[in-house]
Order: sequence, then C-alpha cells, then structure tokens
Amino acid sequence: MQISRHLDNLALIGFMGTGKTSVGRLVAEILRFEFLDTDELIQNRAGRSIAELFAADGEAAFRTLESEAVRELAARKQCVISTGGGLPTHDGNLDALKAHALVVCLWASPDKIWERVRYQFHRPLLNQADPQQRIRELLAQREPFYKQADVLVNTDLRNAREVAQQIVLQFKLATRVRK
Ligand code: S3P
Repeated sequence: MQISRHLDNLALIGFMGTGKTSVGRLVAEILRFEFLDTDELIQNRAGRSIAELFAADGEAAFRTLESEAVRELAARKQCVISTGGGLPTHDGNLDALKAHALVVCLWASPDKIWERVRYQFHRPLLNQADPQQRIRELLAQREPFYKQADVLVNTDLRNAREVAQQIVLQFKLATRVRK
C-alpha cells in the first residue's frame, strides 16, 4: 500500500543496544530538533518503568501503550523519535511512523548487541536464562520489519557520532529531494 508522506520528523528504529537513544540525541542536537523517546514517553505517562509495566500488565499491554504513543506522534514536527526495539514490528506502527518521518534503522550483529547490552539489566525481554540466544531469535524475527526502513545504517564499526553524521546527511538528502 502506498502511504502519503511528509518527512517532518526523523524516526530511529532498531534492536535493543543498537544505540538509538545516544545516536538520536546527537542527531537532534545537529539538526536542532526536539528529541523524543517512546519508552520515556510511556514511562513518564505511566509513572512506572518498562520492567514494572511488563511485570504488572504483560507485554501485550505495553505494546498497546507503544501504539498509542506512535499515533500521537503524528502531530509533531521537527522531532527525532527514538523507538523501542519491538515497536516497528507491531500494529502497523512502521507505516504510522513513515507517514510523517524518515525512518532510519540502526543495525548491529547479534555479537555486537550482546557486547553492548550484557551489563544492562533493565530490559525484560533479555532477563532470562540465555539472553544471547534470545537476541538471535528476536533479531531474526524482526529483521523483515527493520529492513523496511528508508535507511539502514550498520553500527558495528562506527561510533555514535559517525552514525549520527551519516543519518543527518541522509535526512538532508531525503528532505531536499522529496519536499
Ligand atoms: C524492547 C526494547 C526496549 C523497550 C522494551 C521492549 C523490545 O527498548 O521498549 O524493553 O521489544 O525490543 P530499547 O530498544 O530502547 O532497549
């Protein structure tokens, strides 16, 4: 289906640990856009952490909150929107983002992701016996969604600033040609 698009914003999608938040903040700074993070919006609104939300109400309820947040973002302009790793794989969220944002996916290999997340314990989906195996499984399931992004940036061998500069360039090219 063809959707009508206005590239008012820039959305970052990608697996946990690919650097969406740190890169997103840098991109926002360079473009002088506002930085928004869907996990943060959800946590602030609920007054609870993502881990608490998962534990109390389950993943499905969290996905509903994510979809609501995505629909509300359609009204925003000049924002860099960092999204939770599972967000683009649910409920038409990817198309909803694409309507108003250039969608950039940060990609990383399972080994690199593990290296980055292994000492972080706030992600409920990785708090289990074999997190490395879980990363491989989830990444394989989600890959078809991530690859629908407008731009795919491999972050394995680049630091956050290099990734951010690459994204800013892509955003400038896309908005110059398309607007
Ligand atoms: C999730 C990723 C997390 C957060 C939640 C679920 C996922 O965000 O939304 O724990 O399904 O991959 P980050 O990608 O920012 O870690």
